[in-house]
Amino acid sequence: MPMDDVPTVAAHEPEDGGPGGPTAVADTSTGFAALMRLADLVTPMALRVAASLRLVDHMRNGVHDLESLAKATDAHQDTLRRLIRHLVAVDVLEESAPDHYVPTAVGELLAHGHPATQVGWLDPSHMVGRADLALVHLFEAVRDGAPVYRQRYGKDFWDEVSDDPALGATFYDMMAHGQQTVFKQVAERHDWTGVRHVLDVGGADGDLLATVLAKEPGISATLLELPGPAARARAKFEGTALAGRVGVVDGSFFDPLPVTADTITLSFVLHNWSDEDAVRILRHCADALEPGGSVLLIECADQSPSAPDPGFTSADLRMLVYFGGRERTYDQWQELAVAAGMTIDSVSPALAYGARVLTLVK
Ligand SMILES: C[S@@+](CC[C@H](N)C(=O)[O-])C[C@H]1O[C@@H](n2cnc3c(N)ncnc32)[C@H](O)[C@@H]1O
Repeated sequence: MPMDDVPTVAAHEPEDGGPGGPTAVADTSTGFAALMRLADLVTPMALRVAASLRLVDHMRNGVHDLESLAKATDAHQDTLRRLIRHLVAVDVLEESAPDHYVPTAVGELLAHGHPATQVGWLDPSHMVGRADLALVHLFEAVRDGAPVYRQRYGKDFWDEVSDDPALGATFYDMMAHGQQTVFKQVAERHDWTGVRHVLDVGGADGDLLATVLAKEPGISATLLELPGPAARARAKFEGTALAGRVGVVDGSFFDPLPVTADTITLSFVLHNWSDEDAVRILRHCADALEPGGSVLLIECADQSPSAPDPGFTSADLRMLVYFGGRERTYDQWQELAVAAGMTIDSVSPALAYGARVLTLVK
């Protein structure tokens, strides 16, 4: 399209500037501004650069003037000013005095040390921030129906997190932090009556098991993980009151599982895998299940495919790009369960982040 034909935002603003003033760009007759707001790559990348430069951390440490910020971040001063000016324009930073900047409440979440920090999603030196950059290959992922993480980085996601302890730590710390509420809800709301041994398959640092075992003193457990996270889990349990009740086993859920159990937990594991791989994992779980036992699948299970939730659909595309996995509806989970020789016996009400416990039995 010739540039002359591109409608400008100003041409579509209501005369009084409309609610929110000149930045209220969504209400246009053509939808152009609304589309460009959705499609914009500048702001998402600017936020990632800010996270990478630890710009807000420096501000929280008392560095506010442009010259000192440029020195602290080792950035080109005039270009840093341009980045900051954009972040001011989108209300992430504020200019508190000429060439002095502070974060807004939203901008605060770009600090690595903030209790509700979101840098794990954004900073490319963190595993998820790094993996999200593979979204530039979404085209190939959609064309081929395959993950593109390896295409970008030359190695699969799980090999990187397991082989590189520092990078792995950014992922497992983020998971442990994000899952606390769900694990607490599962421990408190599930009926553990009669359960003797839990096998947590792909249980990361062991936080689900730690939460369940702390509440249920009669239960023992085994954690199966890749060598990197298994070592982290072992170190976490060592010397704690739970150490004697949990065994941590290095291994892969693509091999037969190392022990049998009356309860097998699979928390946010299967959404990382294709249907074919998910059924392979579930078959190993079915084989390791003691008579009368159950597999507790903790996953999102969107029940309304006709009105998709953007959180669910964006997570689904992330699973594709990172791993070739997918988010699934209840009916899709049921198909996988049946393909692995099981069926869904019950589904819990929604927990935090829309997670549910689907109880699978043979
Ligand atoms: C998305 S994380 C979920 C972790 C944990 N269950 C939770 O809910 O926080 C998926 C887990 O699967 C583990 N994993 C990946 N491939 C594996 C394999 N072949 N065998 C065992 N675990 C594996 C990863 O190390 C990771 O901890």
